[in-house]
Amino acid sequence: MMTLENKYSPIGVFDSGMGGLTAVREIMNILPNEDIIYLGDTARVPYGTRSPETIMKYAEQDMEFLKRRGVKIVIAACGTVSSVMASGKSPVSEQCVGVIYPAAEESCRVTKNKKIGVIATAASIKSKSYEKIIKSLCREAEVYAVACPMFVPLVENGYTSRDCPQTVLFVREYLSGLKEKGIDTLLLGCTHYPLLSEAISDFLGPDVRLISSGAEAAKSAKKTLSEKGLLNDGNAPGKISLYCTDSAELFRENVSHFIHLENISIEQRSVDD
Ligand code: DGL
Repeated sequence: MMTLENKYSPIGVFDSGMGGLTAVREIMNILPNEDIIYLGDTARVPYGTRSPETIMKYAEQDMEFLKRRGVKIVIAACGTVSSVMASGKSPVSEQCVGVIYPAAEESCRVTKNKKIGVIATAASIKSKSYEKIIKSLCREAEVYAVACPMFVPLVENGYTSRDCPQTVLFVREYLSGLKEKGIDTLLLGCTHYPLLSEAISDFLGPDVRLISSGAEAAKSAKKTLSEKGLLNDGNAPGKISLYCTDSAELFRENVSHFIHLENISIEQRSVDD
């Protein structure tokens, strides 16, 4: 499950791009003393349109990148990687925390009418991992799953505002069916999607609860670290280091809309570095 370093070792987080920063943002809130090393594999984003074999190969390389930097736990803050991991045995799944179970658990906890929507990448929806886990936790749940392939490119290119016509158009296109089903909970099964929360809530209305898979994975990692006695008990604010596999400048530009970058370093590196 994890590389046992010590409690002062950093937390490792990876995703295909900037979506996993939704987990980082939550870790910064709930564990402000922890150092974090983040890898966004921006040279190869998106993962969600690729085969399970390719996704696992990329995930293994991302995980090794973090392990070489001595992290005490790895969070696969990527719904696509987590879905493929959950659908079969892989060396990666034994060594990292994914987003599926924590997000499914929270969705089951908050739903009142037991009608849960799941939106994620094509690969995640195809794997049926979210549906299976939700059903295993809440047998009477009705799960409506929809792939939203245009959401990741929209987010990676900064089209996240609730007024952006392209965003509004795709939100309506993908979510109309879910609205008709009367869901009261929508699991954002791709970690990029919380960046579209405002546009999504504008369309579905305030009564539909949105569950961020990245944030739930961060809470679950906190629990795991606490159980293992690996929480950093120091007082100094954590150091955040972001790595990406394509241009650091581009990454900085997009990320700055969403995370406060003061005292945060961003460097471009090859995944084999
Ligand atoms: N953030 C990733 C996820 O949670 C995006 C996948 C992709 O690169 O397509 O699924």
